[in-house]
This record gives sequence, C-alpha cells and structure tokens, in this order.
Amino acid sequence: MSSFGSCLTMIRAAILAAALSMSLPVASRAGELQAKLDYCKTCHGLSGQGYRGYFPMPRLAGQQQEYLENQLRAFVERRRINPIMANVAHALSPSMVSGLSSHFQHLNPKPIGGAPSHSSPAGRQIFNEGLPEANVPACSACHGSDGHGQNEIPRLAGQLYEYMVGQLTGWSKVRGQGTSVDTSAVMAPTAHNMSRSQIEAVAAYVSTLP
Ligand code: HEC
Ligand code: HEC
Repeated sequence: MSSFGSCLTMIRAAILAAALSMSLPVASRAGELQAKLDYCKTCHGLSGQGYRGYFPMPRLAGQQQEYLENQLRAFVERRRINPIMANVAHALSPSMVSGLSSHFQHLNPKPIGGAPSHSSPAGRQIFNEGLPEANVPACSACHGSDGHGQNEIPRLAGQLYEYMVGQLTGWSKVRGQGTSVDTSAVMAPTAHNMSRSQIEAVAAYVSTLP
C-alpha cells in the first residue's frame, strides 16, 4: 500500500471513530425508545390498534399527543386509577413520555371493529346532536365531527367499543381521583347523563370511524 493510501485509511478510520462516538448516545436513546415501544405494543397492539381481550386494551394509534401525555401523567399522579398503567407510566421519563406519545399519534391502522352494528345509527345521532332532553351535548362539539379530538380532548374514532363502554359507565370511579379538578371533569356530566344503551350506541358508532 502506498503511504498516501494508508494515510487515507487512517483518516477514514478517524472520521468513522468520531462519527461513532457522536452517534452513540443518540443511538442508545433510540434503542431505549424502541424497547419501550415494543413493551407498550405487547398490550396495545403492534400498530397501537388496541386489543380485544378480557381486559380491552385501548387504541393509542392516531391519538392526540397532548391527551396521551396528560393521561400518562394522570396515572402517575393517581388522578386516573389503573394499577397496570400506574406501574408502566411511573417508569417513564418526561422525554420518553413525549417520544412515545408522538410515535403513537403518527400511527393510523384501520379500526379493529367488533361492535354490535345494530345500535350504530342511534349512536350517530347522539354523536352529532347529543340528547337535549337528557342534557347530553353533541360529542362532535368537543371531539370534532370526524371524532379525531384535539389537544387534551381525545380521538374517539376507531377506539375499541368494549373499552369505551367501560370508561363511560365507570367514569367517576376511575377518573378525576386527585385532590383538584382536572380535565376529566369536563366529561363527567356527559358520561353520567347517558343510559347504558345510549353509551353502547355511541361507542359502537365511533368505534367504526376511520
Ligand atoms: C400489561 C399491559 C399494558 C402495557 C404493557 C401497557 N399498557 Fe397502557 N393500558 C393498559 C390498559 C389495560 C389500559 C386501560 C386502562 C383503563 O381501563 O383505564 C391502558 C391504558 C393506556 C392509556 C390510556 C388510553 C386512553 O385512551 O385513555 C395510555 C395513554 C397508555 N395505556 C399508554 C401506554 C404506553 C405508552 C405503554 C408503554 C410504555 C403502555 N401503555 C403499556 C395496559 C397496558
Ligand atoms: C365539553 C367537551 C366534551 C363533550 C361535549 C364530550 N366530551 Fe368526551 N371528553 C372530553 C374531554 C376533555 C375528555 C378527556 C377527559 C380526561 O382528561 O380524562 C373526554 C374523554 C372522553 C372519553 C375517554 C376516551 C379514552 O380514550 O379513554 C370518551 C369515551 C368520551 N369522551 C366520549 C364522549 C361521548 C360519547 C360524548 C358525547 C355523548 C362526549 N365524549 C362529549 C370532552 C368532551
């Protein structure tokens, strides 16, 4: 090898070493995020689409980032009670919370469906017009006409039927458990004022929305 060639080899090796030492911390942070994502997806589905089991796992895909972050904090602060998620969320740093939330917001698999379809037309009416006689506002007023939500207001489109029925029937046993009023208070009267069959109808309708 000429001395010019070996000099080039040394320069390349030096550049490579410098590049590696700069990219290592970044690579390991990305590795940590990926490891956490893999963990979340064992329950929430490979594309965050949710899972219909004995305990329904909510869809996280396409969910508003601010909503995801607020709920992860709510589990840690025990404003929202769930033993599984309290443990999961407790272990996350603030930058991990935003990294995970941003990842899930950008996924968009098809809704997994599985809701009884017969109640869906009544659900569409509740979603768009509310139930004035029962003091239930139109869901679309806050969650958007496409059900995609905004900031701390969650996306409902494609959310799992069983999960939503569970949340809406048990609202005040699970949410708003902190010492001060939080975002969950906005939904409380709406959840209380619907009957079980009205809850089932509107949950069935939104679970099919793309
Ligand atoms: C062992 C199963 C399991 C794992 C692992 C898990 N979750 Fe959950 N998660 C659940 C269950 C069950 C619920 C529903 C809680 C309830 O009913 O209130 C939930 C709820 C949530 C919610 C609230 C969703 C909503 O629509 O309000 C968020 C956000 C969430 N999980 C994020 C995560 C993230 C991020 C990870 C990974 C770091 C993760 N979860 C890992 C089981 C799990
Ligand atoms: C005044 C605004 C407002 C209206 C109207 C409203 N919501 Fe909500 N909704 C919210 C907010 C804010 C949250 C987040 C609550 C929290 O932070 O715990 C929420 C949360 C929810 C959740 C929990 C989603 C999840 O992923 O866990 C469901 C389900 C829901 N709303 C269904 C409905 C339905 C069905 C209607 C219509 C009958 C409706 N909402 C009307 C503001 C509203």
